[in-house]
Amino acid sequence: MWIERLDASHALDYRALMLEAYDLHPQAFTSSVRERAGMPLSWWESRLTGKLDVVFGAFAEGRLAGIVGLAFEPREKARHKATLFGMYVSGQVRQRGLGYALVQAALDEAQSHQGLRLIQLTVTAGNAAAFNLYQRCGFIQYGLEPLAVRVGEDYFDKIHMWREI
Ligand SMILES: CC(C)(COP(=O)(O)OP(=O)(O)OC[C@H]1O[C@@H](n2cnc3c(N)ncnc32)[C@H](O)[C@@H]1OP(=O)(O)O)[C@@H](O)C(=O)NCCC(=O)NCCS
Repeated sequence: MWIERLDASHALDYRALMLEAYDLHPQAFTSSVRERAGMPLSWWESRLTGKLDVVFGAFAEGRLAGIVGLAFEPREKARHKATLFGMYVSGQVRQRGLGYALVQAALDEAQSHQGLRLIQLTVTAGNAAAFNLYQRCGFIQYGLEPLAVRVGEDYFDKIHMWREI
């Protein structure tokens, strides 16, 4: 298993893995598979090459099997904050440490950005695997957003977490 920063050459695999994530775990993500499946490849490329996003991939058995993103803030007064987004590890390779390694890569990246003080993220209430992973990586809950996402007829709360850098 290895972790590397993704670039435009990974756009097709990144797209496929994110669509798998949105399809199999609709409650875990705010974006829907229908919304994202309609985006052109250039949109996925721009996520991997944009100045304000960094995306890491975990490779297992020679293929992209996990992903996480870190989004930086353009506004001067918010540049001390970053947001962790798009965390996903494919079902066949879970509970082997890929998720942990991806979060560590994001933390290392954050540490290399001068002036960055904290990382925020949200996780759907009841998602024990993700909540435990973030807690294990030092994130602390600071809030609960009621009715944050609607999936079909059901509403789900989102836990807000943060970690100091
Ligand atoms: C959450 C997710 C990324 C974890 O990835 P993973 O590679 O299986 O995680 P790891 O093997 O690195 O586990 C790291 C820690 O996470 C926690 N964890 C992982 N899977 C867990 C599970 N099924 N139940 C409880 N805790 C779990 C544990 O604290 C674990 O540490 P430990 O092994 O010392 O107990 C993965 O389950 C996933 O992609 N889920 C679906 C999408 C999702 O929920 N994304 C998060 C959106 S916020």
